[in-house]
Amino acid sequence: MHLPIRPRRNRQSPAIRDLVRETELTPGHLIYPLFIQEGGENTPISSMPGCTRWSVEGLVQEAGEAHALGVPAVVLFPRIPDQLKTRDAAACHADDGLVPRAIRALKAAHPTLAVITDVALDPYNSDGHDGLVSDDGRILNDETVAVLQQQALCHARAGADIVAPSDMMDGRVAAIRAALDEAGFQGVSIMSYTAKYASAYYGPFRGALDSAPKAGDKKTYQMDPANSREAQREAAIDEAEGADILMVKPAGPYLDIIAKLRAATMLPIAAYQVSGEYLMIKAGAAGGWIDEAKIVNESLTGIRRAGADMILTYFAKQWAKGWLS
Ligand code: PBG
Repeated sequence: MHLPIRPRRNRQSPAIRDLVRETELTPGHLIYPLFIQEGGENTPISSMPGCTRWSVEGLVQEAGEAHALGVPAVVLFPRIPDQLKTRDAAACHADDGLVPRAIRALKAAHPTLAVITDVALDPYNSDGHDGLVSDDGRILNDETVAVLQQQALCHARAGADIVAPSDMMDGRVAAIRAALDEAGFQGVSIMSYTAKYASAYYGPFRGALDSAPKAGDKKTYQMDPANSREAQREAAIDEAEGADILMVKPAGPYLDIIAKLRAATMLPIAAYQVSGEYLMIKAGAAGGWIDEAKIVNESLTGIRRAGADMILTYFAKQWAKGWLS
């Protein structure tokens, strides 16, 4: 056949495929989410096989191993004992709380590791919501933002490099930025959960932290999975409010949103491959139905290709250790 244009020429050998590859995935693109708990035990998480709730000591060890493999950052999620959960979620800004102690231990042991914290009330809130709940069951926006400011300040005082508000309240990025600046923390960054969808893919995470809402759902603050323009609106607002990094969550089912935000902003984009995405891969692999390493490679590469600069993934350490494509 006389065919001057043959795309297959660019796929004909590993060397040429290396030359034309458009998307790069390295451990430096990954952020490792880690669960922590009080006490000296490291407890395997039944709803997320392969994940552990770490003691502070266990966290320092695990984060150190991931960092040694080239992973630049971790993000912390605490399980708070029931007796500390209250309707005002006040334990979220106690300087001797689990998260600030974990931050201090991490920064002391691994000064070059970036420590990111989750800013939201759900682990501390007896109602299990990301915001304060009124007597008649509404999620209170402005009152919540005042508590989130305190929580972000508490993390900054302990040495957090980046605070990541995941609560989806209106106006929280500007409020947190102002509170940080006023307290002298101009250098602490904000990674905003900009397009966080009300997703069933968070189910295993809520099991891991025992943080599911006691009543109702999160649909009055997290986004409707059917919406795309709304994500671009949230992105414009977060950018104007001073966010340093914008996040899309979940990642795999929302690649179109990642690509749209990539086109709409000059800010770095993060994407969160959440617990349900993790679990589906783990379950398929446990059944012997899929090749776990190849699926993880492909899912992370796809998220990068869509436009994510960085990916939060529970596979971070395992991928950095042995599954580098
Ligand atoms: C809570 C929070 C959630 C996740 C991260 N921060 C759960 C939720 O919003 O209900 C989900 C992470 C995952 O599923 O891996 N603020």
